[in-house]
This record gives sequence, C-alpha cells and structure tokens, in this order.
Amino acid sequence: MKLFIDTADLTQIKELASWGILDGVTTNPTLLARSGRSLQEVIDEIFHLVNGPISLEVVSEKAEEMITEAKGIVAKIPQKYRENATIKIPMTAEGLKAVKALSQQGIKTNVTLVFSANQALLAAKAGATFVSPFIGRLDDNGQEGMQIVEEIMEIFCNYDIKTEVIVASIRHPIHVIQAARLGADIATIPPEVIRKMVKHPLTDAGITSFLKDWEKVKK
Ligand code: E4P
Repeated sequence: MKLFIDTADLTQIKELASWGILDGVTTNPTLLARSGRSLQEVIDEIFHLVNGPISLEVVSEKAEEMITEAKGIVAKIPQKYRENATIKIPMTAEGLKAVKALSQQGIKTNVTLVFSANQALLAAKAGATFVSPFIGRLDDNGQEGMQIVEEIMEIFCNYDIKTEVIVASIRHPIHVIQAARLGADIATIPPEVIRKMVKHPLTDAGITSFLKDWEKVKK
C-alpha cells in the first residue's frame, strides 16, 4: 500500500519524507491556504521533497477552463519532475470531460470529492489515474465512509480497472488500517495522523525499561 501525505505544509512534508515512508503528496486549496504559501512556492519545493505523484487542484468549473488551468499548473513544474504532476479535478460532469481530455494528453488526474461508488466508476471510465473517496466527510455526515471504499474496490477488481483508489479525508489511524484491509491502493494521510501511527505506549515503555536495565550491565 502506498502512503501519501495530505498537506501543503513543507516543514511537515520534509520531516515525514525523511522517515522513508512517503510515496506521494496530495494538496487542495484549503491545505494551500493553511500553509500560507502560494501555489508557485509550494511547487518550487514539494517536488524536490517527495519522488511520487504530487496532486495539485484546479479551481475552474468549466471543462475547457479546467484543462487550461491544468496545463498551466504542469507548465510551472520543472521538466524533470513533470511525470509526478497529478491534477486534481472535482467530480462533476465538467470535471469528467476535463479528465477525458487530460488523460488523452498524458496528464495524470486525481478525481476528488468522490462520495459514491458510482462517481468513482464514472471517473475511472473517463480515464482518471486516481480517484479520491472522502471517507471522513462521509463519517461526519452520518454515513459509514469506508463502505464506499469497499464497494469501489469490489467494482474495480471485478473489471480489472486500473484507476488507483486514494482513500482521502482520513481522520485517525483506524481509517488507515481499514483502508489497507480493503486493499485500497493508497491512503493520503494528514501529518498529525501519521505521527499517531508511529506511536505506541508499550514501545515507549519498552525503550525506557531496556535503557534502565542497560545501565545495570554496561561497563
Ligand atoms: C485529499 O485529497 C483531500 O483533499 C483531503 O483528504 C480532504 O480532507 P478533509 O475532509 O479533512 O478536508
């Protein structure tokens, strides 16, 4: 399973990339705004930090505008990193048209704001490289979010669909375990959740007791 980091915070990306566990990055306009950096500033650094798909989102609503915006984003990325460029397109009818055109032009897409298996199926049919079901937002809305991941995985497996499933809007470490058990290709995880995944109180207690005992035997 691949793990992406879900942030535009370059300090967090740098630190967690140094753990050797990151396969890609997802951002969105909210995460960019939270980082306090411009799109260009983030682009200038992020591709050096992680060698894997980096998702950057368009904000246009019409297909033609999305396509122009997507190409503009790709053009800002240094040539040697362009194969990692992934354009996030919202799950709308206009978005599907844009995904179709971009995929025909060899630009990777990540269809975002997916809240049902039918939406994921349509995105895959249009040629999406990735689909991002938003689990936490469904949970917040009183629906079992992981249910749609189960449905998407079953459908994609039935038809050997190559579009990869990014479980997004992750709120806690159990979401990651659930996504992995369902065979999702990728989980995109906020830095604070990755930091929780590394911790266990018995690990800390074990280190403390080993260090204490080492003091007794060391010469
Ligand atoms: C990732 O691609 C999404 O933009 C992100 O996971 C959304 O998470 P949120 O529901 O916590 O905003």
